[in-house]
Amino acid sequence: MTMQDKQAWSGRFNEPVAELVKRYTASVEFDRRLALFDIQGSLAHAQMLTSCNIISAQDLKDIQRGLAQIENEIISGDFEWSLDLEDVHLNIEKRLTALVGDAGKRLHTGRSRNDQVATDVRLYLRHAIDELHGLIRALQSAIVDLATHHMHTIMPGFTHLQVAQPVSFAHHLMAYFEMLKRDAERFADCRKRVNRLPLGAAALAGTSYPIKREYVAELLNFDGVCENSLDAVSDRDFAIEFIAAGALVMTHLSRLSEELILWMSPRFGFIDIADRFCTGSSIMPQKKNPDVPELVRGKTGRVSGHLVALLTLMKGQPLAYNKDNQEDKEPLFDTVDTLTQTLRIYADMMGGITVKPEAMRNAALQGYATATDLADYLVKKGLPFRDAHEAVALAVRFAVERNCDLSELKLEELQQFSALIEQDIYGVLTLEGSLAARNHTGGTAPQQVEAAIARARKYLGM
Ligand code: ARG
Repeated sequence: MTMQDKQAWSGRFNEPVAELVKRYTASVEFDRRLALFDIQGSLAHAQMLTSCNIISAQDLKDIQRGLAQIENEIISGDFEWSLDLEDVHLNIEKRLTALVGDAGKRLHTGRSRNDQVATDVRLYLRHAIDELHGLIRALQSAIVDLATHHMHTIMPGFTHLQVAQPVSFAHHLMAYFEMLKRDAERFADCRKRVNRLPLGAAALAGTSYPIKREYVAELLNFDGVCENSLDAVSDRDFAIEFIAAGALVMTHLSRLSEELILWMSPRFGFIDIADRFCTGSSIMPQKKNPDVPELVRGKTGRVSGHLVALLTLMKGQPLAYNKDNQEDKEPLFDTVDTLTQTLRIYADMMGGITVKPEAMRNAALQGYATATDLADYLVKKGLPFRDAHEAVALAVRFAVERNCDLSELKLEELQQFSALIEQDIYGVLTLEGSLAARNHTGGTAPQQVEAAIARARKYLGM
């Protein structure tokens, strides 16, 4: 074995680790993504060691110089990663020692890879949450922009995928604004628990050096320290919580995707999605497929899968750190990547949607969407709701037999079902009348939707 091959912990061992085992246990191929956060954590740790007189000011200078060079090498792609050195932490430490000698070997004083990796993951995740926050807001802005043009565009609202009551397209879109708002809140809340410093927990029990954990926390902008060393190195609940919040983002976008796909199908024909978000078929020349929303729907499965993976990873582990935890990274990274790409593409795609108001309107006119309005009309004239429901059900049956809408029935025809019906019923049976009647907070009346959009714009600072 060359010096380069030698593991940091190999002193205790009689034979080198088997090649297959080395490959099996190494994580550098994926955890190198943590490199810049690892350096950030090491700089703060070294600064604290110096301020507590555990290493010298000269050591600190050497460490800072070495880590600055390593950072440059990593960013430029010149850094040579070695599988022999197992993970991101040992790769960087080895290079640091090659560059600055003994100071590099002193960096790990009072620290373990266990509290080091937990710190790196938290720094990484905090950064990811902040980026995702911006991406959620960008998507919300795109939704609000589209909604602004469609407060008066009427479509059928569905329950059980059957025409239920008319709503405005803007109102429907704004439902997704609300979901994303809660998603952003969940990330912000999760961030509070992510933003705690594990360093100082060392391997599991703390360290015998006179360290100052609060100082490191301050240097790294953590809100505080993890208050139990065993908990600090072993729990990944903050990552699980993050993936759970991410799975909900994907679930919301998957539902919207399902709707876009349905709406784009010629059976609905409510919208078109710009060509740049669709693909064709290699055999059917006429096809234009909504691949992006389909993939979003599909990728939702992998993020839900990552949530289950991490929960399962955690459930059998005794305190404190176990190597199992190395498996937290790929699901976590893939969740961040999937969310980042999905949110980015979605904001663009919402700007590439063409709405077909006539098709929406025709669909709303076909399904007796204003039947509830007729019932409400009768109730307002004194009929108990259940009786009104019955009268309208009979009227709908009558209209179905004649293949026409309620609003197309003559007054005498409608009056067979209730003598309370008068000429003013025709205002009630229009789609516009139905929308305007739902005039309270959260309702679909254009006035209310306009107010909801105004609130959203204020929230987004648009
Ligand atoms: N690569 C490891 C991980 O991701 C770093 C911590 C290793 N600690 C240990 N004692 N082997 O969890």
